[in-house]
Amino acid sequence: MSLVIHRLPRVGSTQDEARRLVESGGARAGHVVVADEQTEGRGRFGRAWSSPSGGLYATFVVPRHPMLPIASGLSVVRALARFGVKAGLKWPNDLIVDGKKLAGILIETAGDVALMGVGVNLDEAPLETAVSARAVGGGVRRGGLIVAIVRELGKSLSSEESLQAYRESLLTLGRSVRVTLEGGETIEGTAADVDAEGRLLVETRGGVRAISSGECVHLRS
Ligand code: BTN
Repeated sequence: MSLVIHRLPRVGSTQDEARRLVESGGARAGHVVVADEQTEGRGRFGRAWSSPSGGLYATFVVPRHPMLPIASGLSVVRALARFGVKAGLKWPNDLIVDGKKLAGILIETAGDVALMGVGVNLDEAPLETAVSARAVGGGVRRGGLIVAIVRELGKSLSSEESLQAYRESLLTLGRSVRVTLEGGETIEGTAADVDAEGRLLVETRGGVRAISSGECVHLRS
């Protein structure tokens, strides 16, 4: 699969640009849409993703794959590690350094492909709760990071060890957590494990719950 990069100076959201390109036949698996800045960058649950210039805002068009929820976070963790940035994961795919958010991933689908949107704070942390790669000592080049993510994603999707490696990067395991589901229900308990589909297994007073999607908060160390 050859890598094709569509580089744009300023867009609403690279997710929307990638979707438009896929739907018009201008992009397929192996293409990446990257923007210098986004005016309507978005995160999970429709939240805004602050996207000033100096960060990485990229949507990777990839084949749909059951391991993608696991492989996506792992690939970004491993790609950043190549530049000396050591991050862990908060379930499902928030990259965290010292309790602050370095990067986030939004996965959407468009026909038979997935749109893996990756936002990384490279030069600046746009929020109090965020951290930048520069602040934690990483000299990360945007182009190099894109290539590294593509390589690591290919490896993670094809390796049987990815689930174990994902578990090892997952700071959430063993923690007391509160997970808010999309309908508003909250589940509290201990994050015991993740399964092969990336579902978080939470031990609650009422038994184990397998959660495929939700907003997770770490309650105590
Ligand atoms: C999250 O943590 O909630 C996910 C954030 C994903 C942000 C990236 S930036 C590139 C792509 N375009 C978007 O509008 N969002 C994703």
